[in-house]
Amino acid sequence: MGNTAIQISNLYKSFGENHVIKNVSLTVPKGSSFTLIGKSGVGKSVLIKNILGIIKPDSGVIQVNDINMTEVKQKDRIQVNKKIGLGMLFQGSALFDSLNIRDNIVFGIHVHSKLTNDEADHIALEHIKMVGLSEHILKQYPSEISGGMQRRVALARLVAMKPQLIFFDEPTTGLDPIMSDIINNLIVDIRGYLNATSFSITHDMNSVRKISTHIAMISNGEIIWQGSPNNIDNSGNNIVDKFVRGDSK
Ligand SMILES: Nc1ncnc2c1ncn2[C@@H]1O[C@H](COP(=O)(O)OP(=O)(O)O)[C@@H](O)[C@H]1O
Ligand SMILES: [Mg+2]
Repeated sequence: MGNTAIQISNLYKSFGENHVIKNVSLTVPKGSSFTLIGKSGVGKSVLIKNILGIIKPDSGVIQVNDINMTEVKQKDRIQVNKKIGLGMLFQGSALFDSLNIRDNIVFGIHVHSKLTNDEADHIALEHIKMVGLSEHILKQYPSEISGGMQRRVALARLVAMKPQLIFFDEPTTGLDPIMSDIINNLIVDIRGYLNATSFSITHDMNSVRKISTHIAMISNGEIIWQGSPNNIDNSGNNIVDKFVRGDSK
């Protein structure tokens, strides 16, 4: 697996008669920012959930580093995810409403190792600054800050875990263009800072152009095109062209 972070081979997943993933194979190089694009409802989130073991594929193999994710037992999953250094930014921000921003940021680290109060303060401060927010909000609760700030806090929490393989599911959905741009820039910065591999799914073309080193398009359950931001405008593929022009959402 040397230079490969994720290797998906001949993956299939159906829900009853709904054949969502049909023979998907993908290689995600280590250190890349890989972006999967496709219309709403085509199975992008299902594909990520298969990689993360949240959904079990019908057949196929998913290797992450040298681990066959489809064979990991449920009881070993947390340990395996920790070994891989898995990080995930969920669709929406998924902060804990009952915890203030400081506690939200350090929550993930607390799960794995005990922190002193001072250590937690220090980490929360360092990471809130990293995402460009003021330390005053550390005492506030998620409901007291805007959606864009919540997304930044979610990124701060993610970075605090120091993940090596990060999944972003529609990281800019629901944000205005300016906030989307801020989040896109943060994603680029964070990946560089952590020296991590990222796997993103999005239907936001600005995001695609800004964050990707590699792009794959999924349509009708299959990977129909792979390329980079440099050749997405000359893909030679009708479905990609339509997507880029925004004809099909
Ligand atoms: N747990 C599930 N059970 C049944 N059907 C599902 C489940 N999760 C997703 N689907 C179906 O799979 C298809 C792809 O969904 P999804 O991966 O969420 O699309 P998107 O590309 O927008 O992320 C949809 O038709 C959805 O209804
Ligand atoms: Mg989705």
